[in-house]
Amino acid sequence: MASSAAGGVVIVGSGLIGRSWAMLFASGGFKVKLYDIEQEQITNALENIRKELKMLEQSDSLKGSLSAEQQLSLISGCSNIAEAVEGAMHIQECVPENLDLKKKIFAQLDRIVDDRVVLSSSTSCLMPSKLFAGLVHVKQCIVAHPVNPPYYVPLVELVPHPETAPATMDRTHALMKKIGQSPVRVLKEIDGFVLNRLQYAIISEAWRLVEEGVVTPCDLDLVMSDGLGMRYAFIGPLETMHLNAEGFLSYCDRYSEGMNRVLKTFGPVPEFSRATVEKVHQAMRMKVPDDPGHLAARRQWRDDCLMRLAKLKSQLQPQ
Ligand code: NAI
Repeated sequence: MASSAAGGVVIVGSGLIGRSWAMLFASGGFKVKLYDIEQEQITNALENIRKELKMLEQSDSLKGSLSAEQQLSLISGCSNIAEAVEGAMHIQECVPENLDLKKKIFAQLDRIVDDRVVLSSSTSCLMPSKLFAGLVHVKQCIVAHPVNPPYYVPLVELVPHPETAPATMDRTHALMKKIGQSPVRVLKEIDGFVLNRLQYAIISEAWRLVEEGVVTPCDLDLVMSDGLGMRYAFIGPLETMHLNAEGFLSYCDRYSEGMNRVLKTFGPVPEFSRATVEKVHQAMRMKVPDDPGHLAARRQWRDDCLMRLAKLKSQLQPQ
């Protein structure tokens, strides 16, 4: 195995998310080193990436301007972390979501990196102030939280530690753009970041509506997939307001009183009672049985839809 990723990217943890990052960085022409504590995970990741890239090339969905073979030649495994990170410009940590484990990894990296590399975590919900506390290279640390599956869902939330240098944020933002992702700057850390806070707000109201018998679980999902979601794949809630009246001010003039009235009827945070869990569980099982085979097939269908939507979005230039 070749050793360092000079000027390139190192992935620490070659599971589901680590593999996706490796493919994305290679699509942008970067040299990628895959590291994992389990040698078998590296071998599996390389094999899995080979299959995925070939499949994407066949369906004309490969990202970047390089062929699958060229992208593959940029990715290699490395079982020695010190060798892997030597001269790297970006390290993307993708180990399981466990604060102590991640802190251990960052402490280890902190001891061996220089002051030029960016240390980035894929964490979904750990706060940067906890993750990077006490590190010598804290200015170079940032969270870059992807959305699953990252190859088809381009959003990446960039969340700084209070001491993260603005240059670290800027460099990571530019790097994400370079690999075709869609980075957003979370200006200060907050529990759940932005994406999960929005997602939980929706889940919360969905839960209340189902619990109170206003709508069935399947119809609730339809309101999103055939209603709000149609627009949200292209424009967010704020631009929706802007376009749904004669501009944003006109929307607020017309609708803020109504929004305020309805919002006041929202109930408390759900307790996720057993009865409602059971009700939704039965409805979901009727739609997609919860054995591994059916779940995997449905996920495959979802990823296929997302791949086509991503293609469509890249063809539709904003006017
Ligand atoms: P995973 O369990 O698929 O992969 C984790 C990998 O880390 C495994 O290959 C494991 O062998 C390796 N690992 C464990 N200890 C290690 C160590 N000490 N050094 C090096 N490698 C080690 O996990 P997954 O799903 O890829 O998640 C990784 C991170 O990405 C987590 O922080 C998760 O919250 C975040 N994330 C996950 C998303 C998802 O939908 N799965 C979405 C967005 C972020």
